[in-house]
Amino acid sequence: MAHILGFGGYAPQRVITNHDWARWVDTTDEWITQRTGIKRRRYAAEDESTMSLAAAAAEVAIKDAGLTPDDIDEIIVATDTPEAMTPDTAAFVQYQLGCREIPAFDLGGSGCAGFIQAVDVAKSRIAVEPKRILVVGVELISRMISQEDRATAVLFGDGAGAIVMGPEPGRAEVLTAVSGTDGGSAEILTLAAGGTRRPFNEASLMSGDYNRLVMDGRKVFVEAVRRMSESSVEVLRKLGRSVSDVALVIPHQANKRIIDAVAKKLGLEEERVFVNVQEYGNTGSATVPFALWEAVRDRRIKEGDFVVLTAFGAGFHWAAAAVQF
Ligand code: ACO
Repeated sequence: MAHILGFGGYAPQRVITNHDWARWVDTTDEWITQRTGIKRRRYAAEDESTMSLAAAAAEVAIKDAGLTPDDIDEIIVATDTPEAMTPDTAAFVQYQLGCREIPAFDLGGSGCAGFIQAVDVAKSRIAVEPKRILVVGVELISRMISQEDRATAVLFGDGAGAIVMGPEPGRAEVLTAVSGTDGGSAEILTLAAGGTRRPFNEASLMSGDYNRLVMDGRKVFVEAVRRMSESSVEVLRKLGRSVSDVALVIPHQANKRIIDAVAKKLGLEEERVFVNVQEYGNTGSATVPFALWEAVRDRRIKEGDFVVLTAFGAGFHWAAAAVQF
C-alpha cells in the first residue's frame, strides 16, 4: 500500500500579469483571459533554478510529513525543464536537501503528465520494497522557451509541488493509477531543438529553434480534454467507483477551457473541480502536486474525501490516479 505522508509546494515571488505581457508582445489581457483563463503566472528569480524550486517544495513536503531529509529513501523528479542536460535534476535535489546517498532519478520529458506517472512508479516501488519516496513535479519554463512567441509564452509559469510517499498509513492512500502514451503525436508538442536529432548548435541558435516550442494548440486542446476525461473514468472503473463518489478532481492546470470541458464530460459541477490556473498559469508537471498541496492546505480536501488526479502533456502522455483521504 502506498500512502501520502506530506504535501508541499513552492511558487516564485515574481508575479507576471497579462498586462505585463501586453507591454512585451502583441497580445491583450482579454485575449489571454478568454482563451485560457490565465490572469497571472510566477517567474523564477535569476538566482533560482529548477533544483532550487524543487528543493523548496520538497522541504515543505518533508516537514509536513513530520520527517527530515535523512528519512527519505528515494527521490523521483518529474520535469521537462531540468537543471542541466546531465546529470538529472534529482541528483542536484538529493545533494541540496542533504539526503543520504539514495537512489534518485528523473522522469523527464513526460510533459505535464510526468508527476502522476512518477506517483504510479513510486507506488510500484513501495509495493516491491517498503520505502519513503519523495516525488516532485517542477518546471522553470520561463527560462527554457522563447519569450517572444506570444502563442506559447503567455501560457506558462514556473513552480514546484511535492509529496512524500511511504508504506505506512499517512494522510491519504494512493489507491490506483493509470497512464498511457500516443507517441505518434510526439511532433504536435515538442521543443524544436535540443537532443540528438536536432542538437543545440549555431544553426538552431540562428534560426531561433533552440528555444522554440512547437505546438498545435487546437490538437493539444482536443486530446487533453479526451485523455484527461477517459483516464479519470478508467481509474474509477478499476476501483468499481463512479463520478458521484468523487469529492474533488484535480486536473492538470493548462487552461480553464480545457478544465471546464473535462468537468462537463465527467458531469462534475464547479465545486468538485480544483482550479488555480488563473493565478499560476501552466506550470507543467508541477500543476497537479502544487494544486494538491493548495487544496489540502486550504481545506478544500477533508478526511474521507475520494480525490482523482488527472493530467495530459507532451508525448502525448496522460495519467490519472485515485487518492483516498
Ligand atoms: N495574443 C493574441 N493573439 C494570439 C496570441 C496571443 N497571445 N497567441 C496566438 N494569437 C493569435 C494567433 O496568431 C491566431 O491569429 P490568426 O487567426 O491571425 O492566425 C489567433 O490568435 C487564433 O489562434 P488560435 O490558435 O486559433 O487560437 P485558439 O482559440 O486555438 O487558442 C490556445 C489558442 C489558447 C493555445 C488554445 O489552442 C489552447 O489552449 N490549446 C491548448 C494548448 C496548451 O494548453 N498547451 C500547453 C502545453 S500542453 C498541456 O499542458 C496540456
